[in-house]
Amino acid sequence: MIKACLFDLDGVIVDTAKYHYIAWKELASEMGFEFTLEHNERLKGVSRMASLDILLEIGGVTKSTQEKEELADRKNEHYLSFILQMKPDEILPGAKEFLTECKKNGIATALGSASKNAMTILERLELTKYFDAIIDGTNTTKAKPDPEVFLKGAEALNVPASTCVVFEDAEAGVEAAISAGMKCVGIGSPSILSKANMVVSGLDKIKLQDIIKLQ
Ligand code: G6P
Ligand code: MG
Repeated sequence: MIKACLFDLDGVIVDTAKYHYIAWKELASEMGFEFTLEHNERLKGVSRMASLDILLEIGGVTKSTQEKEELADRKNEHYLSFILQMKPDEILPGAKEFLTECKKNGIATALGSASKNAMTILERLELTKYFDAIIDGTNTTKAKPDPEVFLKGAEALNVPASTCVVFEDAEAGVEAAISAGMKCVGIGSPSILSKANMVVSGLDKIKLQDIIKLQ
């Protein structure tokens, strides 16, 4: 029986990819190279430092560890300037309704995100109270596709991994869910998320009853 739903944040609950994109693009431009929307796809679900490594690889630029830390901090300050302006109307269609449906049906909820800004984002969106547990980039050490973030979520909710369903928009996130022994609903394109048990374009396209059938 399904007991819990675990949600990725960026790309599932809210579209922050556009803000990450602007901030990374600005950093690339300061270093003298172009960063495109296609490049941005490679950063979805990838931690901040790993994203910076990909960005530097795209630009063919080498930086010291200290320089990298400064660059990542600068990118995050720019990103935060957008995040701090976010309003609840930026919640993706169906997300709040789905979370409400979970609550009504006694299904536990957790956030499972790589972002160190997850708490700030949830607060801006007024969604914090919808989650029984929040696991994010501040309390995980291994990035997706490692299952750590979701296993910690199941542990915090006190439910077996086999009773959890994960909602993910990134390929690495789908892999993390599967290797955690959980079911996975892909949010996005079936061609990219082919390892998921089912794929929909958004949380507005799925009902809790469809999830319960996954078991
Ligand atoms: C999510 C996003 C990534 C982002 C990562 C870290 O996984 O999909 O694009 O790089 O979180 O976010 P942070 O807010 O900690 O920089
Ligand atoms: Mg995501």
